[in-house]
Amino acid sequence: LHVAVLMGGLSSEREVSLSSGRGCADALEGQVAKVTRVDAGRDLAQVLTALKPDVVFNALHGEWGEDGCVQGILETLRIPYTHSGVLASALAMDKDKSKAVLRAAGVVVPGGGLFDRKAVAADHVIAPPYVIKPNAEGSSVGVYVIQPGDAPCAIVGDDSWTYGDLVMVEPFIAGKELAVTVLGEASGPRALTVTDITPTKGFYDYEAKYAPGGSKHVLPAELPAHVFDKALRQSELAHTAMGCRGVSRSDFRYDDVNDVLVLLEVNTQPGMTPTSLSPEQAAYVGMAYRDLVRWMVEDASC
Ligand code: DAL
Ligand code: MG
Repeated sequence: LHVAVLMGGLSSEREVSLSSGRGCADALEGQVAKVTRVDAGRDLAQVLTALKPDVVFNALHGEWGEDGCVQGILETLRIPYTHSGVLASALAMDKDKSKAVLRAAGVVVPGGGLFDRKAVAADHVIAPPYVIKPNAEGSSVGVYVIQPGDAPCAIVGDDSWTYGDLVMVEPFIAGKELAVTVLGEASGPRALTVTDITPTKGFYDYEAKYAPGGSKHVLPAELPAHVFDKALRQSELAHTAMGCRGVSRSDFRYDDVNDVLVLLEVNTQPGMTPTSLSPEQAAYVGMAYRDLVRWMVEDASC
C-alpha cells in the first residue's frame, strides 16, 4: 500500500500539522509498502495525480485542510482518504453552524453566537466573562477570554482582528476543560475515554496545547460517574450528528459548581502531535500510536 501523508498546508495551524504529519508518517513507515510525505500546497491535485497513492492520510489542520476543500479535491481525484468527508469537515469548521446542528441533535452547546466585529469592539455584547473566538479556526488561534474590566476593542479593533467581520462570542464557562476522542467503528461510534486538562497557566491556549509541559492531562478524568458517562455519550452523539468518519475529538467545559457539561466543538482532524490528546486516549485503551494511525488508514474511503 502506498500512503501519501498530507501535512503542513496553508492554515495558521501549519506548524501543528507538520508535527502531526511527521508523527503519522513515521508510524506508517514499516507498516505499509511506501510512505510519501507531501507538504500540501495549491498544486495538490497535480502532485497527487503524479504520485498515484492508494490512500491519502490527511494530517492537515485548519483552513483548507480540515474544512472540506482538500476533501473535495480527494473526492474529485477518487483517492480514498482518512477522517471526515466534505460535508462533515465543512460543517465542523463552522462553529456557529455546528452548534445549530448539535443543539438540534440534543447536544448541550454554549450560548452566545456570531456578532458584528464593530459591535463587539464597541461594548460588551454579552455579560463578561466571555470568550471571543474566530468562527473557523483551530488550536485556540485567536481565542481570548474577556473579564469584566477588559476592553474588547483591543482584541477585535480594526488592526488586530484578522478573522473576518463576524466574531463568535460565548459565555465563559468556569470549571474544567475536558476532551473525548471517538472512533467511528463499523458497529457505531466508540468514545475512548475522558481527559481532564489543566493548563499550567491561563487557559488551554496554543502554548498550553503544544509546549511540552504546557498542560497537565489526567485520564481517565476524575469526575462524577454521570458526568463522565455523559461526556462519552455526547461525543458519540456529536460524531453521528455531524456525520463524522474515522476519528473525531469533542472538546467540553464542565461547570462543576452547577453540574453543567457543555460541548464546545467537534474536531474532525484531531492533533496527532507529541502533546495531543487523541493518541494519549488511544494508548489508554490499548491502542498504540502506530495502531491508531493504521486503523485510520484501514478506515479511509471516499
Ligand atoms: N486543531 C487541533 C489540531 C486539534 O483540534 O487537535
Ligand atoms: Mg478545534
